Amino acid sequence: MSDELTPVPPATVALVSGASRGLGLAMVADLLERGVRVAAFARTVTPELVDLSARFPETSHVGSVDITDAAAGQAFVREVEAKLGVVDALVNNAAIGQDSLHVHTSADRIERIVETNLTAPLLLTRFWLRRLLGKGGRGRLVNVTSICGQRGYPGLVAYSATKGGLDAATRSLAREFSGRVLANAVAPGFFASEMSAVLGQNQLDAILRRTPSGRLTTPEEVVPVVRMLLLEDTNINGQTIVIDGAGSV
Ligand SMILES: NC(=O)c1ccc[n+]([C@@H]2O[C@H](COP(=O)([O-])OP(=O)(O)OC[C@H]3O[C@@H](n4cnc5c(N)ncnc54)[C@H](OP(=O)(O)O)[C@@H]3O)[C@@H](O)[C@H]2O)c1
Repeated sequence: MSDELTPVPPATVALVSGASRGLGLAMVADLLERGVRVAAFARTVTPELVDLSARFPETSHVGSVDITDAAAGQAFVREVEAKLGVVDALVNNAAIGQDSLHVHTSADRIERIVETNLTAPLLLTRFWLRRLLGKGGRGRLVNVTSICGQRGYPGLVAYSATKGGLDAATRSLAREFSGRVLANAVAPGFFASEMSAVLGQNQLDAILRRTPSGRLTTPEEVVPVVRMLLLEDTNINGQTIVIDGAGSV
């Protein structure tokens, strides 16, 4: 049987962007606790991330990297390879939010959102794939997108465009690699974090009314889905898995 016809093996070395807090930090903790070697970066290395890396000194590597600085991202990947081995899983989680109607959002802000949430992860993915495939490796990619990319939300026009764009890229990436890389996205509904703290009580109440369970998604409900996409034997490829309690607009 050719290599391509066997399942893509589970991740052994995962790189998670945007890991200083929120969902990124939760994913890093989960993967480390399951024995995966994990590299994690954000612009700020928070005390929580330092604590986590101190608990797993041999299997973790953390650093301060701005994802929009492609050279810094590439240098970090090389550091990770030297310490933990070839990165065979990438989780594109770093992103910035938006809280302004499109007509009130400056051109600079729109560019920054697109650069951070779409251009930078595409470039990091490209670099990672070249390193992995160049060494004959196979791997797993998870892009963290958002329900906003599918359903839209007022005040999140540029943000939604980046998340819908990343969903589309995920489908095409899955088709480019002949089964060498499983590429999927998870699209959470709103969950409590620094990013969503800009939502007012009226907006939260409206989201809750439209969600059958009457409660928001939690990061703890997203983490196991990402874990499954990274660690289980699966033929799920090119999909966006929505985790939003079946909310409606
Ligand atoms: N919260 C929600 O309601 C929600 C819903 C659906 C999807 N999501 C998605 O879930 C993911 C995690 O969001 P979250 O709610 O956990 O957000 P968060 O608490 O704001 O965390 C975002 C993370 O990204 C990092 N980051 C931002 N800009 C960066 C940059 N230029 N370079 C490197 N790292 C950067 C932040 O660290 P630094 O600021 O230190 O760099 C932080 O670690 C994002 O992709 C978000 O779009 C969130």
